[in-house]
Amino acid sequence: MAELPADVSAAVRALPSPACAYLYSRPALTARARTLRSALPPGASFLYAVKANGRPEVVSTLAAAADGLEVASGGELALATAAGARRIVFGGPGKTDTELAAAVAAGALLNVESVFEMRRLAGLGLTADICLRVNRAGAALSGSHTMTGVPTPFGIDETQLPAALAAVPPGLRVIGFHLHAVSNNLDGHAHAAFLTEAVGWSLRTATSYGIPLRVVNAGGGFGVDYASDASMDVTPLSSVTVPPGVDLILEPGRWLTADAGWYTAEVLDLKTTHGRTFAVLRGGTHHFRLPAAWGYSHPFTVLPIDDWNRPYPRPEVTDVAVDAVGELCTPRDVLTRGQHVPSLRVGDRLVFARTGAYGWDISHHDFLRHDPPAFVIL
Ligand SMILES: Cc1ncc(COP(=O)(O)O)c(C=O)c1O
Repeated sequence: MAELPADVSAAVRALPSPACAYLYSRPALTARARTLRSALPPGASFLYAVKANGRPEVVSTLAAAADGLEVASGGELALATAAGARRIVFGGPGKTDTELAAAVAAGALLNVESVFEMRRLAGLGLTADICLRVNRAGAALSGSHTMTGVPTPFGIDETQLPAALAAVPPGLRVIGFHLHAVSNNLDGHAHAAFLTEAVGWSLRTATSYGIPLRVVNAGGGFGVDYASDASMDVTPLSSVTVPPGVDLILEPGRWLTADAGWYTAEVLDLKTTHGRTFAVLRGGTHHFRLPAAWGYSHPFTVLPIDDWNRPYPRPEVTDVAVDAVGELCTPRDVLTRGQHVPSLRVGDRLVFARTGAYGWDISHHDFLRHDPPAFVIL
C-alpha cells in the first residue's frame, strides 16, 4: 500500500476522538483530471460522473477540471448547475417528466433510454438534440456491472434501434449514441479498442440512417484495483482516432475520485472470538458499503495514536490478522478480512485509501442511526 500523504495523516490525527471521517483532496482530484486530459486524443472530452461522489466540493472541483459533468437524476442536475458545469449530460433509465423538463431547461444533452422516453419528451412539448442509449449486441468489456450485450434495463436493444429511429418524434433530433458498457475495467488497451469500435459502429449506424453524427458517448468504467495500488492505464486511449466533427465523450467517475478520498475510523474495541480477531470501528459499511457490496477486503493503513489518558489498560493485539468491522448489529458489517497488523490498539485509527468513489454516496447511512462521519476537504 502507498504511504498516506502527509496532509491526510495530519488531518486524521487532528480529528477529535472517536474519529470517523471522509477526507477528500481537491489537489488530488485536479491532478487526476490533468492526467486523464493529457492522455485523451484530439476530439475527445470527459465529463465527471457525479454519481461516484456528489460532495459539492468534489463536484465543483471536477466541474472546473473536467469538460463538464454527467448526471443521472434531478438532484445531481441541481448539483451540476450549482457547480457551474460548462456542459451537462443527463442519463439514467427512469427519468421523470420533471427531470426531463429540468434537463432541457438547463441545456443538458439527454441520453434517451427508450422509445417511450422520446414520446414523453415530445409530449411535454420539448425540443432537443438527443443521444440514444443503445444496448449493443456484443460490445461488452471485461469489468463489473455489465450493461451492454446482456439483458439490462439500460438503453434500447440494438436489434430494436431501426424501429426506434423510425419513431423519433418531431422536435427531437438524434445526434449520437450513448454506449456505456461496464464498470471497473482495468485494461486500458481493451478500453481503447472498445472506444475505437464504438466510434466505428456509430459512424456506420449514423450513415445507414442518415443521422448527422456529432456525439459518440462511450460512458465511464475506467477501473481501480482495490487490492493493489493499480488503476486502469489511460495512456492507450491516446491511440483512438476521433473523426472531425464528432465529440467522443467519456464519463469516468471512479477513476477520477477513488484516489482522492480516504475514510478513517477509530478502533473502539478489540476482541478475539473462536480464533478470529476483530477490530471494531467507529464507522463501517453504513458509511463505506463498497467492500460489502462487491465482496472484497478493502486494505487499510494503521495510524497509531499514542495518547491514552484513561485509568484502565489499553487493549492491544500484536502480529495478528484482524477483521476490520463496523458498529452495526450485523456480521456483514465488514470492511476488511484478515489483514495482518504488527500492532493495533484501541484508539488507533484505521485509514482506508481509495475511498473517494462510491463510498459514502452508495451507503445505507440511516441504518442504526449512528452519527455520520465528518467530511474534511483538503
Ligand atoms: C451511464 C454511466 N456513465 C458513467 C458511469 C460512471 O462509471 P465509472 O464510475 O465506472 O467510471 C456510470 C456508472 O454506473 C454510468 O452508468
